[in-house]
Amino acid sequence: MAKIWAGRTDGAIDLAADGFNSSLPFDKRLYREDITGSMAHAAMLGKAGILTEEEVGVLIDGLSGILEDLENGSLSFDPDAEDIHSFVEQVLTERVGEAGKKLHTARSRNDQVALDLRLYLRGEIDQIKTAAADLAMKVTEKAEQYKSQIMPGYTHLQRAQPVTFGHHLMAYVMMLLRDLDRLSDTRTRVNVSPIGCCALAGTTYPTDRCFEAEKLGFEGIALNSIDGVSDRDFVLELLSDLAILMMHLSRFSEEICLWASFEFRFVELSDAFTTGSSIMPQKKNPDIAELVRGKTGRVYGDLMALLTTMKGLPLAYNKDMQEDKEAVFDACDTVKKCLEVFGGMIGTMKACGENMRSAAAGGFINATDLADYLVGRGMPFRTAYKISGGIVAYAQNSGKTLEEMTLTEYQTFSPLFDEGVFEAVNLENCVARRTSTGGTSVGSVESQIAYAREALSV
Ligand code: ARG
Repeated sequence: MAKIWAGRTDGAIDLAADGFNSSLPFDKRLYREDITGSMAHAAMLGKAGILTEEEVGVLIDGLSGILEDLENGSLSFDPDAEDIHSFVEQVLTERVGEAGKKLHTARSRNDQVALDLRLYLRGEIDQIKTAAADLAMKVTEKAEQYKSQIMPGYTHLQRAQPVTFGHHLMAYVMMLLRDLDRLSDTRTRVNVSPIGCCALAGTTYPTDRCFEAEKLGFEGIALNSIDGVSDRDFVLELLSDLAILMMHLSRFSEEICLWASFEFRFVELSDAFTTGSSIMPQKKNPDIAELVRGKTGRVYGDLMALLTTMKGLPLAYNKDMQEDKEAVFDACDTVKKCLEVFGGMIGTMKACGENMRSAAAGGFINATDLADYLVGRGMPFRTAYKISGGIVAYAQNSGKTLEEMTLTEYQTFSPLFDEGVFEAVNLENCVARRTSTGGTSVGSVESQIAYAREALSV
């Protein structure tokens, strides 16, 4: 394929350099956006009187023919084409003749590529949002199922206070809701049209940028043409959102790996989401959770790669920016796959309630409640904290839990103790009393669930 830029030079480029330069192997996935963008451009050129209505008709028919043929497989990508933009333009010109050569009036590949990518990422954001919302709903349903299931809550990976499994799961739903918010927010900045910025300086033709932007469903246009073609913040913002989302999935995955271990035995993963070992017959490995955790590094890498690419670039467009696409495509593909498979794994995951409950019974996770009990009887918190610490040490030495100590034993630590202490340290009561907004009581978790369902239904 001859170079569209052959002119000043003869367009003959070293074979290896040509392959190195070409973005078609990865930007071919932008063909729909490229063609849709060109249709809007042709319509705008017609409206502005730059092309005749007849020429516009020829271009739009030609472009829809190319789209159709690419979709049905009768037209394949020419591996020699430099990028998706030149490929479409060249096929168009072969098919419709002179009018094809007029399509590139008042635009450049610099604004065209930014346009295509924004259109494409708009669609990707919508798909990722749907997948993240599906996962959030699945986790919410699990939380509903286990809203009364007591487990130890941890800080420093040490047993801390009793919580419910439902409450713990809802923490992840809150993270996913923020991820969704972030994606929506990013979408508003993705949805700004760069087309008409041309190479960098705008154009001498009487174009109507707003008309073209509106046709393509954009909410606004880039207000500085140099910025319009050199800005990749919208890609970086999306990559940041995806990196954060993956960090959430990775933390969740890490917990699932721990919970599924023989040491914890808090959850049982469905066989459909685990693998065996080729040598150890007893193994049931949480590969899916591990892989999601592993792929997080890859998405971080995509973000770091593009941040680094952009950091030293003078304005406006530089070919370095062609590197944006593989990074963001990889991140979007990875996140979509992770969300899907993660949802399946969570949907089929079962809690091992008895193991969670017995883990909660050890580790003195009701010691805060013991202190609170003394506070309730008039003792200052710091004194109560100290006395409760002494009781924990005593119980530990005597091989007892706080529930198993006798009242007489309690009373050797403070005369304020009476039978009520057993109510105070009962784990179910410890959970039930945490009715503060966002707390672990069943009612509180139900409110969180209702909030999430509401947020996810819009
Ligand atoms: N393939 C290029 C990219 O992905 C398209 C823009 C090329 N512009 C140029 N003036 N060479 O960034």
